Amino acid sequence: MLINKVSFVDKLPKNCGIVVGIYSDGSLSPNAKKVDESLGGIISKNSDKFTCKSQFKTRSFALCNGDYGYVTMVRLGDSGKKFSELELEKLGAAIYSCTSKLDEDVVVAIDRSDIDFPCDCLPAHIGFGALLKSWNFDKYKSKKDEKITLKNLSVLTSDVKASEKYLEELQKLAEGVFLTRQVVSEPANVIYPESLAKIAKDELFPLGVEVEILEVSEMKKLWMNALLAVGQGSENKPRLAILRWNGGEKSDAPIAFVGKGVTFDSGGISLKPESGMHEMRYDMAGSGTVLGLLKAVALNKLPVNVVGVMAMAENMPSGSAQRPGDIVRSMSGQTIEVLSTDAEGRMVLADALWYTQDRFDPKIIIDLATLTGAIVVALGHEYAGLFSNCNELAEQIVSSSVRTGEKVWRMPMSEHFDEGINSDIADMQNIGKPNVRGGSITAAQFLKRFVNDKKWAHIDVAGVETTSDDNLFICSKGATGFGVRLLYDFLRANKF
Ligand code: BES
Ligand code: MG
Ligand code: ZN
Repeated sequence: MLINKVSFVDKLPKNCGIVVGIYSDGSLSPNAKKVDESLGGIISKNSDKFTCKSQFKTRSFALCNGDYGYVTMVRLGDSGKKFSELELEKLGAAIYSCTSKLDEDVVVAIDRSDIDFPCDCLPAHIGFGALLKSWNFDKYKSKKDEKITLKNLSVLTSDVKASEKYLEELQKLAEGVFLTRQVVSEPANVIYPESLAKIAKDELFPLGVEVEILEVSEMKKLWMNALLAVGQGSENKPRLAILRWNGGEKSDAPIAFVGKGVTFDSGGISLKPESGMHEMRYDMAGSGTVLGLLKAVALNKLPVNVVGVMAMAENMPSGSAQRPGDIVRSMSGQTIEVLSTDAEGRMVLADALWYTQDRFDPKIIIDLATLTGAIVVALGHEYAGLFSNCNELAEQIVSSSVRTGEKVWRMPMSEHFDEGINSDIADMQNIGKPNVRGGSITAAQFLKRFVNDKKWAHIDVAGVETTSDDNLFICSKGATGFGVRLLYDFLRANKF
């Protein structure tokens, strides 16, 4: 259950749970000391039993009487250690995890006298981390988890007004993350191109985003045959959603984000094996991220021009499905030999990328896609794969990645892999030749053929869009919303 309210207090309230900081050597932080004195030394007594010394570890104990219900101790690391925003968010998430079932409101008695942090946005980042961690997907559970009870979390600060102001932006960013997590979590009988396009319109139009939805007939006129080929076997017809946030100068070329939106990837005629096929409901996560990002950008009215393109199709086997061996002419004019109908993401993106660079002439194009199983082999569930034709752009994305903790790892691109997708009978084939391994790189080389010489980056998010690890900081099991915080930071931190 989402926390109802994160608020800030300049004095500690009573009759609630309280959270205090303990350094790794066992000493109490200055605020913890004050609380300890007011409670007759009970924290010092209990802290001896708190043996686990690693940062963000927590332990709660109940007070039998007095002003507070539970006291929760959290390890802050070494005293004097400098914190980053991300670490504050992790701290907030750890506090949420430990106190969410204690059946009381909670106040966090940790401020800048306890933690070395240069800015008074500290309390807001603690609240943001707790908020992100508190989201879960229980829509289809008839019985909700009643053990989770935390409704109101407040954080100590000397400047309530300033903290509220910082939280305002972060809360709106969280709303973008939650929208992404929600649409990614929904099953494919609920989310298909038409319904996802409708959500985009319903969510974004009221925020001042221009939303255009292209249907099959319009895509046909534009010769988007690669995208249409992927969707032609399904009853749920493809859609292309174009989202425009005009926050910058009229004359400024936009920054464009393109997302793979395969609402279900059965593999098509090159059918996937049964085990794990259900996970292919997440194959629209790239589009889901573009949607959540645009929401965060519009809610916070960022002063940049942003274009989001969601390329949506459902990949199904049927009598009208495309076949292995088919050749299609993409919007760019380049022909593609379809050697596997399961390599469909790159076909959907081929037309979406071409369309985006052709229509908007953007300064930068970044695409996000659950594109290859191979990237999970290479980088696991820890890092997304970053591919780019521009070092400066790659470095900017890596910097945002370090700040937000949404990890990316730069992957190489080269001629060798590009040659691997040359076809004998068409301009290219949609999978690499058998002797060319490195499936994520050949996929990226394929996309590169559809962006001309634009500054471009491709983020293969196949391994990171969902997690089966409930202990992950700032996110519970399920959809992570990966990419929203990363790219929001990218837009916020750079001058274009
Ligand atoms: N959607 C998959 C990639 C994927 C795999 C995402 C695992 C998340 C988890 C993609 O469309 C796909 O099927 N890729 C194939 C490409 C192959 C046929 C060249 C793959 O990775 O096996
Ligand atoms: Mg596939
Ligand atoms: Zn796919």
